[in-house]
Amino acid sequence: MKVAVLGAAGGIGQPLSLILKNELPAGSSLSLYDVAPFTPGVAKDLSHIPTDVCVNGFTGDDLPKALEGADIVVIPAGVARKPGMTRDDLFNVNAGIIANLVKNAAKVCPKACICIITNPVNSTVPIAAEVLKAEGVYDPHRLFGVSALDVLRAETFLGEELGLSKVTTQVPVIGGHSGTTILPLLSKVVGSEVISAERIKELTTRIQNAGTEVVEAKAGAGSATLSMAAAGARFALKVARGLMGEPGVTEYGYVQGGSQYGEFFAQRLEFGTEGWKRVIDFGPVSSFEQECLESLKGELAGNIKKGVEFGQKWVAENK
Ligand code: LMR
Repeated sequence: MKVAVLGAAGGIGQPLSLILKNELPAGSSLSLYDVAPFTPGVAKDLSHIPTDVCVNGFTGDDLPKALEGADIVVIPAGVARKPGMTRDDLFNVNAGIIANLVKNAAKVCPKACICIITNPVNSTVPIAAEVLKAEGVYDPHRLFGVSALDVLRAETFLGEELGLSKVTTQVPVIGGHSGTTILPLLSKVVGSEVISAERIKELTTRIQNAGTEVVEAKAGAGSATLSMAAAGARFALKVARGLMGEPGVTEYGYVQGGSQYGEFFAQRLEFGTEGWKRVIDFGPVSSFEQECLESLKGELAGNIKKGVEFGQKWVAENK
């Protein structure tokens, strides 16, 4: 496996690369790219860890070199929220960054699975789809928004609530990756029937606002980096296992297709040798969850439309 991390020298990129250096299968390679000139230094630093994963660092005009032969491209590049901002407030800066990085990936490694962490994920993934379409290489099965941090948070909070191990608690989280588009299906967790309806609403809101909890706690120094790195690595490593032919590997991810609730939708995916191969139906939900599902559709559709329109305009202006 060759994994390229774009935005590798940043707050998410560095710990993400560290986890990948430690966890990728022997014989893999890790290619780090960032506009920060010290990126080759980050790669040198990681290269001293004794695992059989080779690491190279690139900056400046060397993006195509970083992408050469990549099977998976993980993108945490871009700016982060400050207190008082929504993820959508990042759109103006991050939209162009994503479009440019994805265009390079389309040209150099058109078959790579692209995993986007850059916010607002609800819109940056549709932007990437438009860019890939314009390059004639779009395969919806190889493009993902990383929404797995919502799953990690839901597992942590539910584990705490029920006094269960957070390691074994599994919570489905579907929809999108911002505000009320994030929908944890707490009714699916064995044992959750003892939690009152009021508490379920509180927990749902906490999971939806958990990113903001971190933004406020960091008080102007950015948003989640370490937990996001853990989520991004967990997701990328599962994509890698699917690409290598391991059967039955699943994770929640935001992709195009497979849902009646949104053109792009976060849902449980089974990975295969060509990207995600099928969506696993989430089945019946509680009446509260059904209400949330109905009401998230409008906001999610608006986020997607904004991304599609930006992507089409960007493509027309950057031929
Ligand atoms: C998160 O969920 O922590 C990230 O999407 C960053 C953010 O702005 O909340």
